[in-house]
Amino acid sequence: MSTSTPTKGGKLARLTIDGHDQVIELPILGGSEGPQVIDIGKLTAQGYFTYDPGFVSTASCESEITYIDGDKGILLHRGYPIEQLAEQSSYLELCYLLLNGELPNAVQKSNFEDTIKHHTMVHEQLRNFYSGFRRDAHPMAIMCGVTGALSAFYHDSMDIDNPDHRRITAHRLIAKIPTLATMSYKYSMGQPFIFPRNDLSYAENFLHMMFATPCADYEVNPIIARAMDRIFLLHADHEQNASTSTVRLAGSTGANPFACIAAGIAALWGPSHGGANEAVLDMLDEIGDEKNIDKFVARAKDKDDPFRLMGFGHRVYKNFDPRATIMQQTCKEVLDELGVEDNPLLRMAQRLEKIALEDEYFVEKRLYPNVDFYSGIILKAIGIPVEMFTVIFATGRTPGWIAQWNEMISHPYKIGRPRQLYKGPTRRDYVPLGSR
Ligand code: SDX
Repeated sequence: MSTSTPTKGGKLARLTIDGHDQVIELPILGGSEGPQVIDIGKLTAQGYFTYDPGFVSTASCESEITYIDGDKGILLHRGYPIEQLAEQSSYLELCYLLLNGELPNAVQKSNFEDTIKHHTMVHEQLRNFYSGFRRDAHPMAIMCGVTGALSAFYHDSMDIDNPDHRRITAHRLIAKIPTLATMSYKYSMGQPFIFPRNDLSYAENFLHMMFATPCADYEVNPIIARAMDRIFLLHADHEQNASTSTVRLAGSTGANPFACIAAGIAALWGPSHGGANEAVLDMLDEIGDEKNIDKFVARAKDKDDPFRLMGFGHRVYKNFDPRATIMQQTCKEVLDELGVEDNPLLRMAQRLEKIALEDEYFVEKRLYPNVDFYSGIILKAIGIPVEMFTVIFATGRTPGWIAQWNEMISHPYKIGRPRQLYKGPTRRDYVPLGSR
């Protein structure tokens, strides 16, 4: 990736400020897709910061990994459309693509899959970490803890400037997160942890570690495994979202990648972000019956009511979320396979979607179902508990986080250090206690 310095004679933005004759010239930089950016680096020297809470209009970095066009509902991973990847690729192949920038050939694909398979076990000492948690601990709380703790087990590969260390760490994280995730579920159930198996695919292994017990063989349903693989694939990366930005910011301090991914997991947990899939199911449970939908839609529109329609809206997608469309198709496939023709949750979700998309509030604010709206219905139908939904999102997102972290660390970068608009007290002298 070339550091895009403005080409000599490139376009400029000219800023004039009332009361100042001087015009501030700011270079405009262009990428291969999407909006151009105005490089504001020199503004500080002019005595100004920009102000953009929530980074609505801010590009935080250059990247070659994922491109989103929110108006057209486009999502590309290294240039490949999500629709084609969901239909023709696999999760591990997408992991390879995100990490390496190109689709693997047959040998590269086989070697990558083999590498991941041989890193799925976790150190036996890590198993002890789980017994420190209450059985009813939220699995995301466990994932935050044990993922960060991985940095205590791999002192041999923590030199972030060593590409070989970065590579093995990427492989270890992609391989071990599902093992840690399913261990958090087994622990909550009071069941023994199930070891990963090298004869199973990534998604088959996940389902096996979730639902197998030592008492009987567990047969993975291939349709469910395919759906699980697609759910991981649809969550793999998504440009500079809140959790990825957290991973990059943590990484910009030189923190080790395990700690950075743990920070990303913590950020993902929020109901406005990855926690929305769990919140959608909680919301559908709260609505309870189709006859209550209008009341909840009214609440979502009421500015004085904090209630929001979970699974709707997106910072970038102001049209449909292409992942939601694919997820809805997958949802129908899984329910058909499970013979769950009349799924009340799906029926309610579809009715809620129809009502919302016909309501002028949602149309005017361009609020459409996002990736989280249908994923929970599939996961619940598979038998995965609601508390595990965001853990599955985190599992899917791990290759994206680590690819974005690696892209930053393998190019010149600076520590992330935003400034502020200060509105607190101006300088004043200390008041001794006796005088207050
Ligand atoms: C993910 O960034 C990513 O890429 C994230 C993600 C990924 O893959 O990493 O795609 C994953 O996080 C998907 C989003 C999951 N979150 C939810 O489903 C929670 C419900 N959605 C909202 O909280 C909200 O839509 C956000 C947080 C997703 C986006 O918020 P923004 O971009 O900051 O938009 P906003 O909050 O300023 O909303 C704009 C307007 C507001 O009304 P006004 O102040 O203009 O009058 O739309 C309203 C909001 O009140 N609004 C909603 C709403 N979402 C926005 N009103 C009712 N229900 C909603 N869901």
